[in-house]
Amino acid sequence: MFRWSKEIAAPEEEQWEAMFAMAEIFACFHEQPGREEVRIEAFLQDGEQAQRLVELWGGQLDEIGDQDWVAVAAREWLGYVLPIRERFVLTLDERPEFLEALQASHPGRELLIFPPGVAFGTGDHATTATCLDLLVAEAENGGVAGKDVLDLGCGTGILGIAAAKLGATRVDGLDNDPLAVAAAHRYWESNGAPGGEAVTWAEADVLAWEPEKTYDLVLGNLFSEILRQAMPGIRRSVREEGVVILSGILGEQAAAVIEAAEASGLRLDSRVDAGPWTTLRLVVAQ
Ligand SMILES: C[S@@+](CC[C@H](N)C(=O)[O-])C[C@H]1O[C@@H](n2cnc3c(N)ncnc32)[C@H](O)[C@@H]1O
Repeated sequence: MFRWSKEIAAPEEEQWEAMFAMAEIFACFHEQPGREEVRIEAFLQDGEQAQRLVELWGGQLDEIGDQDWVAVAAREWLGYVLPIRERFVLTLDERPEFLEALQASHPGRELLIFPPGVAFGTGDHATTATCLDLLVAEAENGGVAGKDVLDLGCGTGILGIAAAKLGATRVDGLDNDPLAVAAAHRYWESNGAPGGEAVTWAEADVLAWEPEKTYDLVLGNLFSEILRQAMPGIRRSVREEGVVILSGILGEQAAAVIEAAEASGLRLDSRVDAGPWTTLRLVVAQ
């Protein structure tokens, strides 16, 4: 495992975030108390890819043990807390004494506990946070409890796990990365296995997948190009009165994703722009 890191000027953060998204490399952006620079950190398995990053973008490369990086990332995130509306409080810090204090200071909210690991989706990324926010908004309008939910590109399973906690009748999560599928299962169990047997995590490529069922709510935090190609399947997976929430879309790519959605029979209902990222709420065109 390799850790690549680099300091950048804070105003450049959005641009760098977009570059990492295009390169499909997961990177963390750390603000540093009392300093104007932001530190970027990316963890890569592939040594050649790590080396290419240095050649292209400079920065520093360190080789670290496979297990060490989880510990390194976890240390960075001690105390991280993100409230999601009035319903959840998300944290990446799993120390029991911290969790106890967090629950006591947030009565009435359920904890979502996602210590960093090998899969994407610990809630600290704008796209995940926006999807969680829209999911809870959907629940507030009666769109989750008693409904069937599909989590496409589930990563850690964070969206599906939250949907199960919100009372979804059934949750199916898919990812083409077997490590993500295993991680989703682990995070689901460590978050109390909400939904029990009505929740599944499976390996599947959304580009080669044919939905076997239909859902009331389809969540897909994937990159624009994958969303565009998978759109006909996404449309077939949603019921006539259903809702689709899509994220992982860079602002300048949103028009192309909306066009693909409309060509497949979906209609844009609303959008949320957060930094360089756009999240879409779509319904079935009548
Ligand atoms: C941006 S992460 C989103 C994770 C989580 N759902 C969240 O909202 O934080 C995208 C996930 O989609 C998965 N993915 C990428 N391409 C895929 C494909 N063709 N089929 C299925 N999953 C895919 C990745 O492995 C990754 O776990």
